[in-house]
Amino acid sequence: MTEPLSSETFAFSVDATDGAARTGAISMPRGKIRTPAFMPVGTAATVKAMYPEQVRDLGADVVLGNTYHLMLRPGAERMARLGGLHRFMRWDGPILTDSGGFQVMSLSALRKLDEQGVTFRSHIDGTAHHMGPERSIEIQGLLGSDIQMQLDECVRLPAERAEIEKAMRLSLRWAERCRVAFGEQPGKAMFGIVQGGDIPDLRVESARALTDLDLKGYAIGGLAVGEPQAVMLAMIETVEPHLPTAKPRYLMGVGTPDDLMQSVSRGIDMFDCVMPTRAGRHGLAYTRHGRINLRNARHAEDTAPLDEASSCSAARDYSRAYLHHLVRSDEILGMMLLTWNNLAYYQELMAGMRAAIGAGRLAEFIGETKQEWARAEA
Ligand code: GUN
Repeated sequence: MTEPLSSETFAFSVDATDGAARTGAISMPRGKIRTPAFMPVGTAATVKAMYPEQVRDLGADVVLGNTYHLMLRPGAERMARLGGLHRFMRWDGPILTDSGGFQVMSLSALRKLDEQGVTFRSHIDGTAHHMGPERSIEIQGLLGSDIQMQLDECVRLPAERAEIEKAMRLSLRWAERCRVAFGEQPGKAMFGIVQGGDIPDLRVESARALTDLDLKGYAIGGLAVGEPQAVMLAMIETVEPHLPTAKPRYLMGVGTPDDLMQSVSRGIDMFDCVMPTRAGRHGLAYTRHGRINLRNARHAEDTAPLDEASSCSAARDYSRAYLHHLVRSDEILGMMLLTWNNLAYYQELMAGMRAAIGAGRLAEFIGETKQEWARAEA
C-alpha cells in the first residue's frame, strides 16, 4: 500500500527515533512535510532569488511566510481578494506563517507593547499599525496559511529575568487568545511558542502551560537571539522533556548546519532560517566541504565546482572561478546560483538526517559530516 500524500486533517506521525531524535511526517490537505524539515524563508511571498518550482524540486515540503511583511505589503485583505498566498506566489504545498511579533521587535522603528498587542510603525512608509493576537490570527487566515503561529513577545538576550518573565507570561496569555481566535480548523494548525529566554524554570513553566492548551504543535522561540550555541542547546534540552512527544517541535530562526544537527539530535522536528538564502546573496556557499566565501581572491582561477557530487546543478556545473566573478561583479546570477546551492545543501542535510535517524545512526552521520568539513579546512 502506498502512503497517502496528504490528509484531510492535520496529523503528525513519528516513524523512527534515534536517541531523542525523531523522523516522521506531518500530513495535511496541501501535502506531507517530512520531518525533520527545513523550511526556506519566503518572507515577502518569495524565497528570494528562487523560482517556486526550484524550491519544490530541492525537496522542500513547506515554506515560511511572514505576517508582518505581507500585512504591510501587499496587505492581508488584498491577498485574500487575490485568492491567498499559495495562488499569489505559486506554491501549492503547505505554508507556515510567523505571527509578526518577532518582526515588530526586529524591524519596526516605533513600537509600543501592552496587553492588547503591539502598536508599531511600518518599516516601509512609517504608517502606524496595531496588531493583537486576534488580528494576527485573522491575517494569517486571510493569507491562507496552513500552519499559523501564535503572537508572542521575543526578548533579545542578554536580558534581565524580570523582562524575560514578563514577556513569557504575556506570550502565554496571547497563546490562549490565539487559540480561541483560531478555533477549530481540522486541516490547519496553530502552534504555540515557548519563551523564557535563557532561564530554565521560565522555559519549563512556558512549555507546561502551553502543553495544557493542547495545541497542534509547539515552537521554541527566543533563541539564536544573541546567546552562545551551548546556551541554545541547553534550553532545548530543558524544554524537550516537557513537550508532548506526539506533537511536532519547531525551533524558530535556526540556524547553521551544525545548529540543525545538534538540535535534531535533541528532538527538534522543524526549522526555518534566512541563513542559506541571505548568505547566498552575500557570496557565501554552504557545501559538503564547509562554508566557502566566493568573494575570496583564492577562487579567481579555481576551475573546480562547489561540489562535484551534489545533485544540484549550481553546485556541480559552475566553476568557483565563475561564481567568484559573478559575486565580485554583483551579478544577479551569482545570488541565484549560491541561493540555489545553499538551499540544496540544507535540504540534502535534512534528507541525510532523516535517513540516518531511520537507520539508527544519526551520531555517526553527524560525525562524518563534521569530518568532511574539517578535511576541507585542513
Ligand atoms: N523567529 C525566530 N524567533 C522567533 C520568536 O521567538 N518568535 C517568533 N514569533 N518568531 C521567531
